[in-house]
Amino acid sequence: MPDQTNPKVALVTGASRGIGAAIATRLAKDGFTVIVNYAGNSAEAEKLAASIEDAGGRALTAQADVADPAAVARMWDAAEAAFGGVDVLVNNAGIMKLATIAEGDDALFDSQIAINLKGPRNTMKLAATRLREGGRIVNLSSSVVGLYQPTYGVYAATKAGVEAMTHVLAKELRGRNITVNAIAPGPTATALFLDGKPQSVVDNLMKLAPLERLGQPEDIANAVAFLAGPDGAWINGQVIRANGGII
Ligand SMILES: NC(=O)c1ccc[n+]([C@@H]2O[C@H](COP(=O)([O-])OP(=O)(O)OC[C@H]3O[C@@H](n4cnc5c(N)ncnc54)[C@H](OP(=O)(O)O)[C@@H]3O)[C@@H](O)[C@H]2O)c1
Repeated sequence: MPDQTNPKVALVTGASRGIGAAIATRLAKDGFTVIVNYAGNSAEAEKLAASIEDAGGRALTAQADVADPAAVARMWDAAEAAFGGVDVLVNNAGIMKLATIAEGDDALFDSQIAINLKGPRNTMKLAATRLREGGRIVNLSSSVVGLYQPTYGVYAATKAGVEAMTHVLAKELRGRNITVNAIAPGPTATALFLDGKPQSVVDNLMKLAPLERLGQPEDIANAVAFLAGPDGAWINGQVIRANGGII
């Protein structure tokens, strides 16, 4: 049972929509006080925080561009001021821009590196010294690391980098009783995956997994909740693919 008198605090980046919103909702249900980070979509973030509070949970919204170390530091300071500390960091914020390596421009490269790779680095740099004893870090990778389809080159490179930092930080935190793991979803029904794809492409990708459906944000939130909760205590330095068996 979660300790309701002294709830643990979870900071979920990119929690206004999609997978992050499902993770925030699930962790709140599991008894965590949740910090709902977002980049620009304050209306969605506030709506989510209100729905968590309506369901009896506790949530605070926090605008911060994860690519900006100063903004991330301000968010962490605010979380500590409000709740005394952070126990769980979920690095979920991300963007996906697809192009072949020949055709992708510098803006496509730089934006994905900034948000998908530097973002988790910015938060993990703080978490490494400030996450409370017994804490958990869960990073969002992707099953494109392994599938390596055309046009996913830069996106996959950022996620491969996230997986590398996951393995290294797990070792660097020896002695702190903090686990660092990654969840690597396959195609999941959110704006990031669906936007701009013709239905025929979505249908083909859906059938690639032997379970023959898209992942739902809640499928991914279930896996994150496992790593963030008591049952995940012995899992450390691992990448878990949550993808219906696509790879
Ligand atoms: N969907 C998939 O098929 C899939 C598969 C594998 C991995 N993933 C990974 O899962 C994670 C979540 O993806 P999703 O599908 O839920 O995406 P999504 O629906 O597009 O939502 C993205 C979230 O990230 C936030 N965000 C974007 N840039 C940000 C920044 N610079 N700073 C802070 N927050 C930022 C957005 O905030 P605003 O609302 O304020 O813009 C939003 O809350 C990503 O890391 C993605 O790479 C997704």
